[in-house]
Amino acid sequence: MKVDLLIHSAAQLVTCASPGGLKRAAAMADVGLLADGALAVADGEIVAVGPSRELRADFTAAETIDAAGKVVCPGFIDAHTHAVFAGDRLDEFELRLRGATYMEIMAAGGGIASTMRATRAASAAELAAGAAPRLAEMLALGSTTIEVKSGYGLDTASELAMLQAIELLDAGQPADLLPTFLGAHAVPPEYRGRTDEYVALVIDEMLPAVVEWWAGARFKLPGAALFCDVFCEANVFDRAQARRVLQAGQAAGLPAKLHADEFVSLGGVPLAVELGAVSVDHLDVTPPEEFGALAESDTVGVVLPAVNFNLGSTHFANARALIDAGVALALATDINPGSAPCPSLPLVMALACRYQRLLPAEALNAVTLNAAYAVGQGPRLGSLEVGKQADVLVVAAPDYRQLAYQLGGNLVETVIKRGRRVLN
Ligand code: NIG
Ligand code: FE
Repeated sequence: MKVDLLIHSAAQLVTCASPGGLKRAAAMADVGLLADGALAVADGEIVAVGPSRELRADFTAAETIDAAGKVVCPGFIDAHTHAVFAGDRLDEFELRLRGATYMEIMAAGGGIASTMRATRAASAAELAAGAAPRLAEMLALGSTTIEVKSGYGLDTASELAMLQAIELLDAGQPADLLPTFLGAHAVPPEYRGRTDEYVALVIDEMLPAVVEWWAGARFKLPGAALFCDVFCEANVFDRAQARRVLQAGQAAGLPAKLHADEFVSLGGVPLAVELGAVSVDHLDVTPPEEFGALAESDTVGVVLPAVNFNLGSTHFANARALIDAGVALALATDINPGSAPCPSLPLVMALACRYQRLLPAEALNAVTLNAAYAVGQGPRLGSLEVGKQADVLVVAAPDYRQLAYQLGGNLVETVIKRGRRVLN
């Protein structure tokens, strides 16, 4: 049979296969490793996975990649990012180095509000142009699918401009982008002290406008959803406000995500489980009593150790205990100008292994298979299985554990998106 692409002779073909769905507990330590493995691709989809000898006999290919001495694995999925923003937070970085905390800076009108001011001043085209180099860097580091949130506009026109920028960026580069409406990211200065009124604006004005935009929006990934997210945190949005926004989003067809338990636990995890959220993210201070209900749900727990690292904290989400409790865990960068200016999922894997005691296999499943489910794309992305989209990396190392063992560099050599070589 003739195919478009045959990758063969991989020292390790790491499938991350999981025909049964989300990976939990012991399954997270299994990456589905095949020595001397091969992969065949036709029409952008994986048509065969198996031993090199067999696939080389069965297929002739328009293009062949000899992956001898290398790892071949699924493209990474960054399930939580704020990759579109204007300006920087360099002055706040220095303030933090001098001792101010993230929440103090936010309370004083900086933080998200400072990025909001720069973002409101930019057009959709300017926002897209500013974010394009970031996405290029993320792709080079292996991220082939990237969720991107709004949330620095905080008024209807500026939130729409952010979403339009995400749509422009999806069309303008190879990675698949999935948009998330995060109008409830912070209370903008003009609503200070009137959080409920701002929540009403999010629900009554922004959400319908966003839904109308989405009806006409075009994204490359078939079946891509528009998500709705809220920053549920002390002095930001409480649990009741988060519930109102997420339920309104769900009623309008937007699956829920939630920022919960980054600094203060407000019961965001039980709320996410109750609402059937696709993911609940951060989990830094989630009480262990809440792990069981999360484990019993299909809500993916997304932890973001680049945030803790960047904020100079020694406290990390208890990802080890979350996995052991049976939570389907994913890792993401949370790339944003304040709490995590980090484009690299391999660095996040390295941090998770060191500070959260994940094994390299668990970290890899957390940025592939489980991350695919965290963006509602489990059946289509996140593993090297027949029928899935051919998003594949060739890694310049013979052992997948090098991905988490090394830190600060980039072992990703070749990036294949929908069966096409898009880098190298
Ligand atoms: O996920 N926590 C809220 N939102 C981001 C930070 C955004 C920012 O500081 O600009 C986060 O950490
Ligand atoms: Fe975030």
